Amino acid sequence: MKHIYFPEPFRIKSVEPLKILTREEREKKIAEANYNVFALASRDVYIDLLTDSGTGAMSSGQWAGVMLGDESYAGADCYYKVQEQAHKIFGLPYVQLVHQGRAAEKVLLPILLQGKKYAISNMHFDTTRAHVELAGARAIDCVVPEALDTAKYYDFKGNMDCGRLEQYIKELGAENIGVIIMTITNNSAGGQPVSVENIRQTREIAHKHGIKFMIDAARYAENSYFVKQREPEFKNSSIQDIVKATFEDADCFTMSSKKDAIVNMGGLIGCRDKEIFELVKQRTISFEGFITYGGMSGRDIEALAIGLEEGIDENYLKYRIGQMQYLAARLEEGGIPFQSPVGGHAVFVDAKKLLPHIPYYQFPAQALAIELYLEAGIRACDIGSYMLGNDPDTGKQLEAEFEFTRLAIPRRVYTQSHLDVIADALINIKERAANIKGYKIVEEPPILRHFTAKLAPID
Ligand code: F0G
Repeated sequence: MKHIYFPEPFRIKSVEPLKILTREEREKKIAEANYNVFALASRDVYIDLLTDSGTGAMSSGQWAGVMLGDESYAGADCYYKVQEQAHKIFGLPYVQLVHQGRAAEKVLLPILLQGKKYAISNMHFDTTRAHVELAGARAIDCVVPEALDTAKYYDFKGNMDCGRLEQYIKELGAENIGVIIMTITNNSAGGQPVSVENIRQTREIAHKHGIKFMIDAARYAENSYFVKQREPEFKNSSIQDIVKATFEDADCFTMSSKKDAIVNMGGLIGCRDKEIFELVKQRTISFEGFITYGGMSGRDIEALAIGLEEGIDENYLKYRIGQMQYLAARLEEGGIPFQSPVGGHAVFVDAKKLLPHIPYYQFPAQALAIELYLEAGIRACDIGSYMLGNDPDTGKQLEAEFEFTRLAIPRRVYTQSHLDVIADALINIKERAANIKGYKIVEEPPILRHFTAKLAPID
């Protein structure tokens, strides 16, 4: 059976050559990298699925925009363009440029969490969790239970569990909670969408208790596409209208523009409250740069203004989600377990199911990522106990809800043949799964350890 879901709404004008190492060379490279895929040189990788962040291909329109970028320190043309676009698309009155998503978190979260003890989210991404902790608070995840069963179909596995959220607010005290964060799509649960109904309900709960409601908007466009497909109220709406409904009455948002805005670098903060925005501007000047460039070069701001528009094009989104669905269908045929239905930016392979003999503290999802590199030069990453790290209070290894090996697909970069290589590699690995061993950590930093830790295979 041939699955052609939605073909590419573009053709290729410039190509980047790739090298394919031998199996022996790859064995050497991964050992030299101390079994940490972040320590591999990209030249030693054939298909790079480490992240969909900042790895997309810009359009000819964006490259043309690069030449128009105004590099003035203050009041550059591109600043006004991106402001105009962001106001039009998201509808919030105040928007600040920063250089990426975690910069937005670094600027905004300490403002929201000052004097507070907790942030609650459907699921915090790892940098969001880190910035909550750096601001002296604790990050609590509150996703719907349907997300935890990777084999079960559910339209919106990214949703907030609103019943549990109310319970947390009661137990912890509304006055101790600085912010409720809705991450769209829910990256850590598998790039899973959140319904607009759930966004509205969560926002109402937050506001009823006087708590700020924030959106982590890294993949707002992919989320809106799923809403159009799955939420009856929006089946005839444009993506733009769904984005508007998503951000309606949100107090603020942080956004990594490196995902759905299809740029290699960039971030945004949006606010509704002028007082918060004044604090955001002050902190941006200290940490990022003057407010009209916010840590970005003018050429990148120009590309961002264009990417914001391209990212919500429905034909592009059809192709984009279609790529995930194609890969997912091939994996399903091959009996590879993954978070199903597939999400928006990646296939999250369920390493707990594929490698049931490896316990969480020997990092099955990391073990599978290493096998993918050995098998076909594919670089994927662990979204599981290895990434989650240790309890900040006790220092003990935490057990993650999931052990995912994430195959994140860069935007407009890989072809269907590349997707076939990925599927075939996993099917080959499945045949020898019982012989794959776990890993131990031999060196680790205290925070965001997965980027730099050193590992060794367990014999
Ligand atoms: N929030 C979410 C939901 C993210 O997925 C990311 C980044 C960030 C915030 C931080 O943004 O990288 O621009 O600083 N996710 C990337 C990933 C790194 O691979 O999923 P950033």
